[in-house]
Amino acid sequence: MRRRTPAGGPKVDLTTRIGSVTLPNPVMTASGTAGHGTELAAHLDTASLGAIVVKSLHAEPWAGNPAPRVHATPAGMINSVGLQGPGVAAWLQHDLPDLAATGARVVVSIWGRTVDEFARAAELLAGAPDVVVAVEVNASCPNLEDRRALFAHSVAATGEVVDAASAARRPLWAKLSPNTPDLVEVAAAAVAAGAEAVTVANTVLGMVIDTEARRPMLGAGRGGLSGPAIRPVAVRAVYDTHEAHPDLPIIGVGGIAAAEDAVQFLLAGATAVQVGTATFADPAAPARILRDLGRWCDQRGVASVAELVGGAHGR
Ligand SMILES: Cc1cc2nc3c(=O)[nH]c(=O)nc-3n(C[C@H](O)[C@H](O)[C@H](O)COP(=O)(O)O)c2cc1C
Repeated sequence: MRRRTPAGGPKVDLTTRIGSVTLPNPVMTASGTAGHGTELAAHLDTASLGAIVVKSLHAEPWAGNPAPRVHATPAGMINSVGLQGPGVAAWLQHDLPDLAATGARVVVSIWGRTVDEFARAAELLAGAPDVVVAVEVNASCPNLEDRRALFAHSVAATGEVVDAASAARRPLWAKLSPNTPDLVEVAAAAVAAGAEAVTVANTVLGMVIDTEARRPMLGAGRGGLSGPAIRPVAVRAVYDTHEAHPDLPIIGVGGIAAAEDAVQFLLAGATAVQVGTATFADPAAPARILRDLGRWCDQRGVASVAELVGGAHGR
């Protein structure tokens, strides 16, 4: 029997389970593209989305990288914001109350330069209110103790930062990097360390060179490529992860700008999706994509969005 739906709402059951977390639908914001608090509330009903994932927070206030920090690229953008933020304690005091008042479910992303810094950020979240439904561990940030790599390029380092994040006493999602051939093994390490889900994936490492200045365009030199340009990379990464770990909840992210893009991720094996760069061109993009996803399913007689998960694997 179909559940009762509000007038004008979709018939499809959009309820989404990510490990121990149940969300009303599978569409979230992507960390770093929806601010630290209520920035999107003027453009969409934040409570209508599955969750709001806030920009990655360090234990301490963090200034970020030198300008320029963002640059448009073909079908996307490159950024090196450098994880600027107020620190967990100030965020809990100044940003979370207003965001919670919108009725949104909140996912806090944390980062650190060392395993100990991840642990400290997580400890500060242990007393956060219940509106914080999960912690996303941004393992795709530089590991100070291994200059060559991001944490998420290493099976061991990923396990260590996820383990450190258990101090938050919340469901943990590990945000992984597409820039490694070991993605499937890294996902397994995250799960072994306690992650209930993996978010696949962060940006693709890139660079743009200013030909007149004969220098890298971004202040930090290298950056992260995002937007539709990386969608096939991210869909492949989700597909590989689901193939290796069919029971692991995956949150798919990378270049989603329309409902059909989100459906690609679900069919590849994602349980939920996040919308990032599309929000810069259209701040209401996550809500639009959610609405259109409902219509897409209704038009095709899809009774539950969960039916789509992994559908491209032909099992
Ligand atoms: C300006 C900008 C800032 C970002 N900041 C973060 C961040 O703080 N933490 C994080 O885990 N990902 C961050 N990301 C990565 C996004 O969350 C997302 O994984 C990536 O951009 C791919 O999705 P998209 O193509 O929909 O943007 C950032 C992306 C952009 C464009």
